[in-house]
Amino acid sequence: MTKGVKIATIGGGSSYTPELVEGFIKRYDELPLKELWLVDIEAGKEKLEIVGGLAKRMIEKAGLPIEVHLTLDRRAALKDADFVTTQFRVGLLDARAKDERIPLKYGVLGQETNGPGGLFKGLRTIPVILDICKDMEELCPDAWLINFTNPAGMITEAVLRYSTIKKVVGLCNVPIGMEMGIAKLLDVDHSRIRIDFAGLNHMVYGLDVYVDGESVKDQVINLLMDPNNSSFVKNIEGLGWEPAFIKALDVLACPYHMYYYKTREMVERDTDNAKKEGTRAEVVQKLETELFELYKDPDLAIKPPQLEKRGGAHYSDAAVRLITSIYTDKRDIQPVNTRNNGAIASIPNDSAVEVSCIITKDGPKPIVMGDLPVQVRGLVQQIKSFERVATEAAVTGDYNKAVLALTINPLSPSDTIAKEIVDEMLEAHKEFLPQFFQNVTS
Ligand code: G6P
Repeated sequence: MTKGVKIATIGGGSSYTPELVEGFIKRYDELPLKELWLVDIEAGKEKLEIVGGLAKRMIEKAGLPIEVHLTLDRRAALKDADFVTTQFRVGLLDARAKDERIPLKYGVLGQETNGPGGLFKGLRTIPVILDICKDMEELCPDAWLINFTNPAGMITEAVLRYSTIKKVVGLCNVPIGMEMGIAKLLDVDHSRIRIDFAGLNHMVYGLDVYVDGESVKDQVINLLMDPNNSSFVKNIEGLGWEPAFIKALDVLACPYHMYYYKTREMVERDTDNAKKEGTRAEVVQKLETELFELYKDPDLAIKPPQLEKRGGAHYSDAAVRLITSIYTDKRDIQPVNTRNNGAIASIPNDSAVEVSCIITKDGPKPIVMGDLPVQVRGLVQQIKSFERVATEAAVTGDYNKAVLALTINPLSPSDTIAKEIVDEMLEAHKEFLPQFFQNVTS
């Protein structure tokens, strides 16, 4: 790549775009971005114009020669792109609110990437990402697809197994959030921390953690026993771990493990919150309204600090450091979602895993982690089975597979309740699930 870099961002009207732009500005010396194409759909046009205006002001303030293009024409954005980043939400936040509210009626967790919500977000999103892959094959076959759209693990799995795109990396801010959170707890600079990550997206464990190469795992596990330290993301309130459990687990849990190891308490807490301030999507809807009001201000030319109230904080660091390392063949270590290729012994080779990798110009090379410790292996395998069956359901529109996926998910209490939830959610999301309404096999 000798010409200036072209990046297309799908879902460019997202409130997270200023994060990304800040990252590009900070790393411009290493990543000479020439064209940034922010693309959205008709329904996102107004947001695209507002956030695009802010992106242009941020770049102008930084004095950089980056062209920002705002468009509803995905094909024009993709043409000859070097990197395609995806951060779209099919059905917008209204769909997320349904994913969160409907399962709660059945006493089941309502969350955007786990349980029924995760399943339905996958069912809505996978056909769209596969369509983007088809456009990429034709318009930018050498580009890297950097996916931030949730459920990021399932989306990476779908691209790897059902498209011809091989240059795909799934990205999440949870691992970088854990690194930064632990660095803060230990009062050391983030650059001195390394965690051996292994597992799946939102189901990742830190098998060990080092400061300057020395293991500090026991010290960190002791710190995690403090309820104030049990979550590293803004969207999950840490309810605190049982010290006996977290000590014996002997690896670092991620914030999303709260949903699996404290299911009852999390469902109760979310049910209560839904009654009081609303579900997370409803809270985020209000936050977004405030954010877009701020973005409109013609004098604003920085990422507003209010964006840090969102769960996706550090997204720019994760995304731009990844793109930069691919572009410069940096060979540093980063946790990403990629094809397992034997790195984690307990997971099929052709499945997506979230694992520490060496990032090269040819993409992430997973570091061999061996077998997962027995105390976490089963849960990770069960979620991988869920993700694979769910992905198949999304691609085929097979109703029975959707019921199977939810039934085998550990957050679902029974096959009958799983079926009832699937039925209600299929109906609620009908508009975004055409594959199920052309091809019902029940
Ligand atoms: C976390 C997750 C992201 C998720 C976000 C939600 O950080 O890693 O996958 O999208 O939180 O944040 P929000 O502010 O939208 O609830």
